[in-house]
Amino acid sequence: STKKLWGGRFTGKTDPLMEKFNESLPFDKRLWAEDIKGSQAYAKALAKAGILTQDEANTIVTGLGTIAEEWKAGAFVIKQGDEDIHTANERRLTELVGSVGGKLHTGRSRNDQVATDYRLWLVGQVEVMRAEVAELLRVAADRSEAEVDVLMPGFTHLQNAMTVRWSHWLMCHAAAWQRDDMRLRDLLPRVNTLPLGSGALAGNPFLVDRQFIARELGMVGVCPNSMDAVSDRDFVIETIFAASLLCTHLSRWAEDLIIYSSGPFGYVQCSDAYATGSSLMPQKKNPDALELIRGKGGRVAGNLMGVMAVLKGTPTTYNKDFQECWELLFDTVDTVHDVVRIATGVLSTIRIKPDRMKSGLSADMLATDLAEYLVRKGVPFRETHHHSGAAVKMAEDRGCTLFDLSVADLKTIHPLFTEDVSAVWDFNRSAEMRDTEGGTSRRSVLEQVAKMRSYLGAE
Ligand code: ARG
Repeated sequence: STKKLWGGRFTGKTDPLMEKFNESLPFDKRLWAEDIKGSQAYAKALAKAGILTQDEANTIVTGLGTIAEEWKAGAFVIKQGDEDIHTANERRLTELVGSVGGKLHTGRSRNDQVATDYRLWLVGQVEVMRAEVAELLRVAADRSEAEVDVLMPGFTHLQNAMTVRWSHWLMCHAAAWQRDDMRLRDLLPRVNTLPLGSGALAGNPFLVDRQFIARELGMVGVCPNSMDAVSDRDFVIETIFAASLLCTHLSRWAEDLIIYSSGPFGYVQCSDAYATGSSLMPQKKNPDALELIRGKGGRVAGNLMGVMAVLKGTPTTYNKDFQECWELLFDTVDTVHDVVRIATGVLSTIRIKPDRMKSGLSADMLATDLAEYLVRKGVPFRETHHHSGAAVKMAEDRGCTLFDLSVADLKTIHPLFTEDVSAVWDFNRSAEMRDTEGGTSRRSVLEQVAKMRSYLGAE
């Protein structure tokens, strides 16, 4: 037989390329801590079940602790034949504590082991992601409050639409990020569920106490079916989905800022810390951080498609295909950490130019307010829409703006236009009128900020 853990029934050697094709240690070694934690809990459960003596369990738990120290110090020596993190740690354990190390894997399979390791690891990563998103939300709330008086054009179809507060735009994106955070929060208990004690697929014959193992590992429950426990990777998919949607939201936010930082707009300017120059054009300051955030959204969405495609069509329980999920998961998690932290850096340092925003406000953006003026005098909105449209047309025909039309001009359109119509020509008034919950009035935006802060305080 070969030296492999599973080598008993083998006589032939593995093809060297196959060796490389099959191994996951180069990437799954980053799970060393979770693999050891899971094994320590399992050793204790075996002792509780009477399979290990307390002394044997202690020897194993201590030996695993030594291995953890080796990994931490960068001193763990990977040997040929270490296929994955599970076999590497077990091989080292036996070197350290002798043949008793060979008792650790009793009733266990790498199938329930690997799923446990990744779930434990992912719980920690999702918690870090949530802390990063919370920081982004905090910055958004702080800026929104500090800059609540800044008005800017709001767009639909990227066409001038209505006056909004810069803070209202910012809290729009924060609202989406908050839902992303809630999605991450809500999926956590489904990730934080224990597969261990499922064996290869059929269950554990040594009657280990799975509830005990779950408690030892800080997990909230046990997977209810041993075949499902080793079979599914939905916890990977839903985490990548939530992360991917967060990146999609950040990509749209970045796209707005890329437009706002362009020459014709000039509403914002990225700080030097998050921009780059051109090798040829000396004047250039490009919003690379934002463009990369936009690009990473595509990359992460690709990872989501990748894991979906890997899982689809695999027969029930474990298949080696699943190993392909991990690098996509790692890439996603690493990318999201960077994206959120860079976005937070961009947002906390970007300079806004309120005068440029103000000069983007055009008279026609008050056409709706003009229609609403007549509504308040009792004219049905559908008619006022036409009257205001006629005023827009009149100004367009004369090559002037709505501001330049006299009350006499407006009276030719509708007799209820009187002197007080001049009050309509005020962008701040337009914003302040929209004072319902969620609107762009100062009070309403500050209320959105306050609610965001209480969410952050409660989470
Ligand atoms: N490296 C493997 C994976 O990531 C571990 C599980 C291997 N299990 C097995 N029965 N071959 O999926």
